[in-house]
Amino acid sequence: MVAEDFKSVLREKRVFRPSKSFSRHSDIKSHAEYKKIYNYSVKNPEKFWAEKALQLDWFKKWKKVLVKKGDFYKWFAGGKINIAYNCLDRHIKAGNGNKIALIWESEDGKTREYTYSELLKEVSRFSNVLKSNGLRKKDRVCIYMPMIPELAIAMLSCARAGIIHSVVFGGFSSDSLRDRILDCRAKLVITSDGSYRNGKIIPLKQNADMAAEKCGFVKKVIVVKRCGNKVKMKKGRDLWWHQQMSKKGIKDEFPAVSMEAENPLFILYTSGTTGKPKGVLHTQAGYLLFVYQTFRWVFDIKDDDVYWCTADIGWITGHSYIVYGPLSCGATSLMYEGSPIYPRPNRFWKIVDRHKVTIFYTAPTAIRALMKEGNKWPNSCSLKSLRLLGTVGEPINPEAWIWYYNLIGKKRCPIVDTWWQTETGGILITPLPGATPLKPGSATFPFPGIVAAVLKENGKRAKPDEGGELVIRKPWPGMLSTVWRNDKRYKETYFGKFRHIYLAGDTARYDKDGYFWIMGRSDDVIKVSGHRIGSAEVESHIVSHKAVAESAVVPIPDPIKGQAIYAFVVLKKGVERNDKLRQEIINHVANHMGHIAKPEKMQFVDDLPKTRSGKIMRRVLKAIAEGKEDVGNITTLADPSVVDKLKEGRVK
Ligand code: WTA
Repeated sequence: MVAEDFKSVLREKRVFRPSKSFSRHSDIKSHAEYKKIYNYSVKNPEKFWAEKALQLDWFKKWKKVLVKKGDFYKWFAGGKINIAYNCLDRHIKAGNGNKIALIWESEDGKTREYTYSELLKEVSRFSNVLKSNGLRKKDRVCIYMPMIPELAIAMLSCARAGIIHSVVFGGFSSDSLRDRILDCRAKLVITSDGSYRNGKIIPLKQNADMAAEKCGFVKKVIVVKRCGNKVKMKKGRDLWWHQQMSKKGIKDEFPAVSMEAENPLFILYTSGTTGKPKGVLHTQAGYLLFVYQTFRWVFDIKDDDVYWCTADIGWITGHSYIVYGPLSCGATSLMYEGSPIYPRPNRFWKIVDRHKVTIFYTAPTAIRALMKEGNKWPNSCSLKSLRLLGTVGEPINPEAWIWYYNLIGKKRCPIVDTWWQTETGGILITPLPGATPLKPGSATFPFPGIVAAVLKENGKRAKPDEGGELVIRKPWPGMLSTVWRNDKRYKETYFGKFRHIYLAGDTARYDKDGYFWIMGRSDDVIKVSGHRIGSAEVESHIVSHKAVAESAVVPIPDPIKGQAIYAFVVLKKGVERNDKLRQEIINHVANHMGHIAKPEKMQFVDDLPKTRSGKIMRRVLKAIAEGKEDVGNITTLADPSVVDKLKEGRVK
């Protein structure tokens, strides 16, 4: 959120209620009804979730809803289930095999559709391909792909066969991919020759090659032909997707593997305060139930809805609310390959009209970027199919909210501002569209079963509008089960600050009406265009440049991206400071980590502000980068005089 907007959030008094006709057709029709369900859910959490779990198809019913061991929780212990079975076979058995499961639109305007029956065949085929290449239950597969249907198919095929997938965002560099392959020891990588973005081809296979080269345990690389650009295929290792799918003996049936409820489903890497990204591990049953139930209620899904989430599947939003949530509910989910402004800034709105999208879910950064392009773009489209809008990924400033509400939703569509995280698996704080009176900029209330609170440093509950750390007091089915092969990090990161209470890493406040307002990260994570970037990771890439001695990065407000990266860099002795070097270091980060992690501004400095014990005071750097005169208390600095020098050299 932009600093100025904080003030407008504090002033925000408007309330928007759902229309009577919207509420009448919703599952949860009023705030009073929500409260009743909520109270029941938190008084009887195990009963509540067990009742909901009966909606799923189990191979074997669970013995115990929740088993607790310290800060580790197992949901539906003793139960057997398969998430891909619940996303596909279950609907076909119920007679919905001919319903459209996936609609895909490519950047150049082509579309492909898959019914549930067709999707099941493709998924089963690819599960057979995985098996024929020696993959077995619990093996890991890394998926590094553009937004094409094969990406969703690959995930579901892994899930069907009990193989753990780890999707790596296609915008990440080969180094980032390599680190993730190394951490989860993936035996197989799935990629494509290239991907389209703004009409250009991005060479994904080349990145995958560089990453795989350094990981000898990667035995096979399966390549989807997407762009037809020339790629090198390594003999004995690289295989074409289409050839594998049509090879002899590959059937389009594959019995879904019966998985223990707590068996791993996927690993998704995300950034935290320190060091390397952590592998957030989600398991079969709890995750499935949570994305199913949140998708049902938050998006108020109906049989004839066409639902579109614009996220990339490389992030959790795509996992939970393009693939697993919508498909487990038997919905029609749209996937778009390319840029929101290609060839023109009305691309999103054209897609809405073309496919008669009824529910649209995007990020505030996209809304702000499209808002900047002017009203003529949405006004040139009808948008009349829309009935519900959503946002995710970062706080939305009331100005953008109102624009979204008026220009896109035409004042008739509720907006669900959904707060959640990679670790939470699904949405935790959110309006329910037929029930909740909305306040622009507030994610409103916790979802049933979720006990959210705001705590002060001393662990006591903050008062209304006081602000503090956002925490979740009780476990919920979608929560991460651990950090991949690192239980210690799980405990320290999420349960280290307040005993047995999940720490979100966000600051928040609630107002006198109980509405939650998320203010931003309380740790060293920077949200650039809603993408989660760890400052430590960016710093380590800057420092890996040969001219650099030391570095610290902080967020600065950005009117479109929400936050951008500001880097302070200490060069090695004798290295000359100039713009060429600055650009070189910025490019170095982009090449080694990915474009999204590129520092927007870089200031060369002699020293960083450190405490006497040598700790960098980021709070001071942040204030300087933002151009604040008052940088707060600096009495603990080893050398307070550095502050003035840093202020002088600020890059505006
Ligand atoms: C931020 C994305 C304000 C928050 C699903 C959180 C939000 C981080 C919202 C997780 C929202 C997400 N309002 N902030 N509605 N949704 N965030 O893991 O800082 O990529 O901790 O998951 O995004 O980012 P992640």
